[in-house]
Amino acid sequence: MRTSERGRMDPSDEHTLDPDDWSAARAIAHRAVDEAIDHLARVRERPAWREPPAAVHAFFDAPLPQGATPLAQVYREWQDNVRPYPMGNIHPRFWAWFMGAGNFTGALADFLAAIDGSNLGGGHTAPALVDRQVVRWLREMVGFPEGASGTLTNGGSAANLVALTVARNVKAGVDVRAVGVTALPKPLRFYASDQVHSCHQKALEVLGLGHEALQLVATDAGHRIDLAALASAVVQDRARGLQPAAVIATAGTVNTGAVDDLRAVGAFCRREGLWFHVDGCIGALLRIAPAHRHLVAGIEAADSVALDPHKWLHAPFDVGCALVRDARAHHGSFALHPEYLEEHARGIASAPHLFDYGIELSRSFRALKVWMALKEHGVETFGRLIDQNIAQAQHLARRIAAEPRLELMAPVVTNIVCFRHRLPGADEAAHRGLNTEILLRVQESGLAVPTDTTLAGRHALRVAIANHRTRRADLDLLVDEVLRLGALLQNGAA
Ligand SMILES: Cc1ncc(COP(=O)(O)O)c(C=O)c1O
Repeated sequence: MRTSERGRMDPSDEHTLDPDDWSAARAIAHRAVDEAIDHLARVRERPAWREPPAAVHAFFDAPLPQGATPLAQVYREWQDNVRPYPMGNIHPRFWAWFMGAGNFTGALADFLAAIDGSNLGGGHTAPALVDRQVVRWLREMVGFPEGASGTLTNGGSAANLVALTVARNVKAGVDVRAVGVTALPKPLRFYASDQVHSCHQKALEVLGLGHEALQLVATDAGHRIDLAALASAVVQDRARGLQPAAVIATAGTVNTGAVDDLRAVGAFCRREGLWFHVDGCIGALLRIAPAHRHLVAGIEAADSVALDPHKWLHAPFDVGCALVRDARAHHGSFALHPEYLEEHARGIASAPHLFDYGIELSRSFRALKVWMALKEHGVETFGRLIDQNIAQAQHLARRIAAEPRLELMAPVVTNIVCFRHRLPGADEAAHRGLNTEILLRVQESGLAVPTDTTLAGRHALRVAIANHRTRRADLDLLVDEVLRLGALLQNGAA
């Protein structure tokens, strides 16, 4: 439809969403690219986070647009109301939760993928070959054998869900796809440390097993799964008539970055006939980091692994990946070919359907951003950046250890540092109060974005450095600001 004619168009006219003036569209696109590059190049000059003001909230209360708005104006609205108030994870001092920092090539790839427009459900297309190649490369990074299968998902939660679905189906003792979980001969049990990510609870709820099927196991002083406690939980469950099915080991816990002893958990699973899953959303890619790959020794023996290229490969959101050693079991858990989705010997449907390995039928071309950035930088660069983040975490830990007013709250083995401001003689509630106020002031000032957590009942500030833009001086700034705010708040001068 021609914008200028929309109001008086004859209903029998044929419409299109293409611009009627390609050169005007080209000019806006060029401007958007120029401004995007400036935005990225000058990221350090902006606050790490900024609260969207009331006017911006009000802007998003506008009703459904009935008529047309020129693209130039829509772009301006985005510039004014969206661009200034992002999550901030591309900023060098963003260390919240656990997110990658994005990369320019990945962003360009997202644009190119959208222009290409392919649906990656399958089809005999080059984008599908890119998707399969990226899965093979990720498989190689974690050391899985040729023949293992995998699928790109929108993130780690979905990747874990895919893997746990296969585990459930393999260990069920009945054809769960046919008869459902109510026909299970015995209730299934999954085991994970008390540090496991909450997405596993959600996964077991979605899988119809209920979250009581997730047996949390105590951890040792290093926040790693306690193997003796794991063994006795399995024995007790068998005695209760339950069916131990799988152990979910964590390579990089979300609280402290701890890595379970994957070799020992794998050996235990083999002895006990249990599925060995590794949630490697944070740490599976340690395997490409020369100085730290030993931390995940044993991951290559897992039955399944979930990992997140949108974390330590810095792919712009979103992309996760599930890898499964037994490709037949993986395919058998999801494959479904109604008549309208049959494969053919020739033509567009003559390639393996990618939707046969997960729950999505329509899939985005998210593989391209991983593919282009890996080709541009090479896997060695990404490995070195992981080592760099861990060295930065150790630098931060040293600064904290050298400062009597600060307390390190957990061992630092990877890139997560938990600490807090001390309050001599005060109880836990007072510590939480002081440190929460410090946290919120740091966020609100835009200086940096750490988050917080609770470790064995003790509140801690948490810094997760999965960021290729962070420099040690950024971490020094944080320490100085925490100390400044701590002194200010204790003096009652706030
Ligand atoms: C250990 C772990 N597992 C799973 C997830 C969930 O991943 P996603 O946010 O990509 O769904 C996360 C997220 O940070 C995580 O840290």
